[in-house]
Amino acid sequence: MSEITSPRDLFLHELGDILYVEQKLAEEVLPTLMEEVTDDELRKGFEKHLRETEKHVENLEKAFQKLGEPAEAEECIGFEGLKSEHDQLVQESSPDLIDLVDAGAAARTEHYEIAAYESLIAMARGLGERDVIELFEKNLKDEKETLREVESVAKRLAKEHAKAGQTA
Ligand SMILES: [Fe+2]
Ligand SMILES: [Fe+2]
Repeated sequence: MSEITSPRDLFLHELGDILYVEQKLAEEVLPTLMEEVTDDELRKGFEKHLRETEKHVENLEKAFQKLGEPAEAEECIGFEGLKSEHDQLVQESSPDLIDLVDAGAAARTEHYEIAAYESLIAMARGLGERDVIELFEKNLKDEKETLREVESVAKRLAKEHAKAGQTA
């Protein structure tokens, strides 16, 4: 039997899904990435985003509260896929490429989060749940900014590798 039978059910499911992602990022993934990388700008970026991500979790909990629903995380299979892809790539890559691997994984994750928040905003509008939109927009703004930052680091790292390749 279907458990999700209304647009509101789907909305709450998607909200639980992104709560899972934000919690995992704050508790496990961003601290791991901070330890993994050697590039200073990249590590500082992850550190900054870790603090923002802790706030994202709080904003989502507030959204559940405004909706009068318990804040329940739903295992997000899409994010688990991104995470396993990253873990496998780290195993397969030489140490000098880990910064580039992590910048790429971070960019993919930000795209995933951006899509999730844009979709939640559209669903909240459709359901007339205007109170929660501002909370989603706050998170979305941070994700977009983080994506820009991580893309700029990735470009620099790629250039540095290209240069090193030419002189080697
Ligand atoms: Fe986030
Ligand atoms: Fe993010």
